[in-house]
Amino acid sequence: MENLKRLFENNEAIVAEITKSDPEFFTRRAGKQEPHFLFIGCADSRVPIETLTGVAPGEMFVHRNIANQALAADLNLLSVLQYAVEVLDVKHVIVCGHYQCGGVKAAMGDASYGLVDHWLAGIRDQVLRHQSELEAEHDEQARFNRVVELNVLRQVYNLSRTPIVQNCWKRGRRPLLHGIVYDIHDGRLTPLVLEVDGSDKVRALLEVDRRGVGV
Ligand code: CO
Repeated sequence: MENLKRLFENNEAIVAEITKSDPEFFTRRAGKQEPHFLFIGCADSRVPIETLTGVAPGEMFVHRNIANQALAADLNLLSVLQYAVEVLDVKHVIVCGHYQCGGVKAAMGDASYGLVDHWLAGIRDQVLRHQSELEAEHDEQARFNRVVELNVLRQVYNLSRTPIVQNCWKRGRRPLLHGIVYDIHDGRLTPLVLEVDGSDKVRALLEVDRRGVGV
């Protein structure tokens, strides 16, 4: 119970501190949200994206699941995506992976974890597709990092193929898609691919997925 109690105590203290310097901080945001970003990240507890990027409440629409998947059959993801780009008019959709991702590691191994094995099937396929490239890398950590990065690029590609994003682009509208990776060891975010807008970069992403070449 102690850990849970701490949440409420911290909340009281944080609200008091914020409203002391800015009494309207919360009421100003209560009316509506106008986020610039949709963040699709891993559920991992070590990726506190709002803290890492300094965004204020109302600036970032967030969707998280195990291993930051953007699957075309995931109604949850698609609902978030559609609402974000069509209703909230979000201009930037960011897929963020992270090194040391337990989901990616699980997909690279032979152990079975139950339902999550189904969820991670796409990453397993990707590891198979990139088998020769990955086997050529003898450093285990480098191999792990590479799969984390490939997974991000794949999810950006998946987003680019959704009718939701395709329809926006056909009408000459955004979003721009971005793939980034977070390094748990030093707190840094690194871009893998930026500003995918339906042009050559989508084809480049597909090539990465097929042949394992860099964007
Ligand atoms: Co993860």
